[in-house]
Amino acid sequence: MKVTVFGVGYVGLVQAAALAEVGHHVVCVDIDKTKVTRLNDGYIPIYEPGLENVVRDNHRSGRLVFSDEPSVGVAHGEVQFIAVGTPPDESGAADTRHVLSVASTIGALLDRPALVVNKSTVPVGTADRVAQCIDAELKSRGERFAATVISNPEFLKEGSALTDCMKPDRIIIGTDDAAAEATMRELYAPFNRNHEKIIVMDVRSAELTKYAANCMLATKISFMNEIANLAEKLGADVEAVRLGIGSDPRIGYHFIYPGVGYGGSCFPKDVRALISTAKSVGFDADVLKAVEHRNNCQKNTLFSKISNHFNGDLKGKTFALWGLAFKPNTDDMREAPAKVLMEALWQAGARVQAYDPEAMNEAQRIYGARDDLQLCGTKESALNGADALVIATEWQAFRAPDFDVLQEALTEPVIIDGRNLYDPVKLAGLGFDYYSVGRAHASPVRQPVLGLVSRGQMAAI
Ligand code: UDX
Repeated sequence: MKVTVFGVGYVGLVQAAALAEVGHHVVCVDIDKTKVTRLNDGYIPIYEPGLENVVRDNHRSGRLVFSDEPSVGVAHGEVQFIAVGTPPDESGAADTRHVLSVASTIGALLDRPALVVNKSTVPVGTADRVAQCIDAELKSRGERFAATVISNPEFLKEGSALTDCMKPDRIIIGTDDAAAEATMRELYAPFNRNHEKIIVMDVRSAELTKYAANCMLATKISFMNEIANLAEKLGADVEAVRLGIGSDPRIGYHFIYPGVGYGGSCFPKDVRALISTAKSVGFDADVLKAVEHRNNCQKNTLFSKISNHFNGDLKGKTFALWGLAFKPNTDDMREAPAKVLMEALWQAGARVQAYDPEAMNEAQRIYGARDDLQLCGTKESALNGADALVIATEWQAFRAPDFDVLQEALTEPVIIDGRNLYDPVKLAGLGFDYYSVGRAHASPVRQPVLGLVSRGQMAAI
């Protein structure tokens, strides 16, 4: 089928690549000429495993075309996806300006009936507004045909975006229009294998489903972070609690990892946007407000633990920071807990020696050159002469470090771990002061016999 995708951001590019990969002919349109030129030159603007090859192969074969000309896109697609950004406005509501602008462009150029699909995460009711925008343009040109506007939200995760798109666990199609449903079923047939993944519903429910999914996941995380904080106060171990509750299939093991708060381009923005949508219809979203509040507090966890350990005196101290991206397998630092931490450390007069496997360029772009930030080429070099190691992202490469190297490189054997990567008993045995989230603080055991320090002893420490 012929498909047009407006917006080659994260969602648009991955969606376009996946559709081309299964044989559709896709034209991607973006008003950012530089981005389009670079994509045509084979440069992928985001780090996403597997994406580069799929984009390159399909671009070469001619099934994936990049253009900065909206007219090329509108002329091409039987299906026209809108996948442009919906950043938060000052009030936290999703700003649909770019979505509506694409709608007007489509309306101004369309010369036949078309199916327009909202892929962007948009507030409930946006499909109706998109339809109105297109309709207004068509009427002003005296056209008699109409466009059908439907909702088809995206659920991809950064770091596994292409796989999520190629093997979706559900495909939500929001429309009451039988012809539109049939077209979407045909488009997604290559992805709808093994079992039925398509769920058809009305357009408003589809729009709300996207927010409800992200807000539910954010709620799980904030809830678990709350339990972790409580576990610390009560002398319990949140990792044991996590296993205990996750074994109940009604709760499940996914998305109950405590940590330093959720970040990224979706959860924080979508929680705020749904709070704002609720407010606009006179409803107080109490649970979501609490979820957001807990998350904002949680992002200060690392700093509080550091500050407590050093008795509030961080001036002139240096901290090795492992992990800058908001999660592993991405270079994205949007709303990353590491940013909140670094900024608090700088405010307190400390320096940061940071390392991340992918986000170094992004950190450089955000912070530029400054005396209190050294971006290091390896995780080992970030340790040199630091007063403590702080872990903000659970990259695989951080899970099994050489603790001897750590001990030699740090001026003091102190680790503040925001992702619970290590065993407190083992680290105490190795002589580390080890702070994690929701577990007892492990104080160094000076003459350890490895493996003989029991959890009971730990609790007594
Ligand atoms: C999310 C949704 O998962 C995806 O379906 C939606 O389309 C976009 O938003 P993404 O932002 O890429 O995807 O990241 P995700 O892997 O979901 O993680 C979000 C945040 O939650 C990260 O900061 C992560 O560290 C945090 N998290 C996740 C936890 O703190 N604990 C967990 O148990 C899981």
